[in-house]
Amino acid sequence: MYNNETSGSSETGGTAFRDFYPVNKPFGFVGIEINEDRGTLKYHTVEPTLNKDESELLDRIKSLLIDQMDVSLDVLKDPEQMEVYLRTKVQLLFKKFEREIPSESEEKFIYYLKRDFLGYGKIDLLLRDDNIEDISCNGVMTPIYVWHRQYESIPTNIIYDSEDELDKTIIRLAYRSGRQISISNPIMEGTLPEGFRILLTLKEVSKRGDTFTIRKFRENPYTIVDLIKNGTVSAEIAAYLWLLVENGRSIMICGATASGKTTLLNSLSMFIRPEMKVVTIEEVRELRLHENWIPMVPRPSHQLGVTEITLFDLLKSSLRQRPDYIIVGEVRGEEAYTLFQAIATGHGGLCTIHSDSVDYAIKRLLSRPMNIPAMMVPLMNVLLQIRRVKIGDKVMRRADTVTEVIGLNTSDQVQTEHRFKWDSVDDSYRFLESSGSGENVFKQISNLRHVPEWTLKEEMQKRTLILKWMKKENINTYEQVSEMVHKYYGNPEEVLTQARFEVTS
Ligand SMILES: Nc1ncnc2c1ncn2[C@@H]1O[C@H](COP(=O)(O)OP(=O)(O)OP(=O)(O)O)[C@@H](O)[C@H]1O
Ligand SMILES: [Mg+2]
Repeated sequence: MYNNETSGSSETGGTAFRDFYPVNKPFGFVGIEINEDRGTLKYHTVEPTLNKDESELLDRIKSLLIDQMDVSLDVLKDPEQMEVYLRTKVQLLFKKFEREIPSESEEKFIYYLKRDFLGYGKIDLLLRDDNIEDISCNGVMTPIYVWHRQYESIPTNIIYDSEDELDKTIIRLAYRSGRQISISNPIMEGTLPEGFRILLTLKEVSKRGDTFTIRKFRENPYTIVDLIKNGTVSAEIAAYLWLLVENGRSIMICGATASGKTTLLNSLSMFIRPEMKVVTIEEVRELRLHENWIPMVPRPSHQLGVTEITLFDLLKSSLRQRPDYIIVGEVRGEEAYTLFQAIATGHGGLCTIHSDSVDYAIKRLLSRPMNIPAMMVPLMNVLLQIRRVKIGDKVMRRADTVTEVIGLNTSDQVQTEHRFKWDSVDDSYRFLESSGSGENVFKQISNLRHVPEWTLKEEMQKRTLILKWMKKENINTYEQVSEMVHKYYGNPEEVLTQARFEVTS
């Protein structure tokens, strides 16, 4: 009853799927097809097949339902109530058509009605599949691509074959994110109710037709313990960053598209002391923080009389709210300068920047449109370069270098020093001692807090142990990690004793 059986269909030419798994039980599956000759993979959505009669009937039901949708907003928002509503409607319509419908057909109709009215139509399974990180549609008559956790970038069997169909999808995506897209504003960024980030463009600017990109986020964001577990950072790097965040130092995460910058930033924000006031400034809401938190997103203006509020405006006004920490999702333009000013006046700053290397990130900071004066760059204490790397046949994320900005040299050039470095040979991290020149970050904290540097190193070791213990004991959910961090701030000795005891047992 499926449009693509596991053993293959006419379209797949009898090729077996290399992988086949349920995504929306009992009807929605995904099959990964391998073309042995070309060595290429293709992602198939596998849904119930409708015969001609069923297909015509479904179309009729859909248009009647659209005409007669008599449902309150509350019901519309509740999937269970909506299912009851759709079932009753379908049965009423069958009666009206005087047709006896087999229960199997009815179930298939309900599947498609739910998919198309409540879900996202033919891309619905892609949004539900947890293995997918990105979905991109580059126009009409071209397959949608997905970035699959296991198979990386692969084409799908989904194609929008009419401009009208794609237009409708774009409008629905914009509507679901509560924003508008129009010929006068043909580019839109937003967030879907599921928390996924979307970028839409209309054919006015993208010549192959409308496009959309959906960046999916996990319902439960990766915590620092998850990132230690999958090797993105070591427990020692995490402990070092924890100390820095606690002491209001500033960190910039550098990386290419989808390298994991925002994910790492979010996981670091959980180290901020709970009593600290945090302001986050993002183009679209992605971060998830503790209670004492003011999230801000810019407001684009498409109408006369409605003032546009940019990242820059938000950052300026946020300084009046006296936050301890300011987190800017991604610095791109003039807001970078304001962020550096904020750091200069004693606020801690966390942000990400799109960059392939630390050197390039510094170049970006120094040049237009950011224009940070060289003397201010060392205010950003640490630049961490994250990369997507291939280990065996798996794509993993690794904190390639953790670099401290230690000052300026005599010709006013920014001086940096690596503190940690990832070794691709044995997939391990090395700690690199300070050369002693310039102002390393431990020296700064030591001056600020009047504690000797060796106590900071000792503290780093203690926290490394705690994080290793949390990894071992699977204390890794958002709630658990944040609770443990708070507990440590409140009663470090108790947590440490427990960790010492259990990590060695
Ligand atoms: N350390 C990690 N390990 C495994 N998966 C990760 C890791 N970090 C991020 N991901 C996954 O990769 C995808 C992209 O992550 P994220 O949005 O953090 O990247 P980004 O660098 O901020 O991207 P962009 O440049 O678009 O802002 C997400 O689906 C996320 O779940
Ligand atoms: Mg990001």
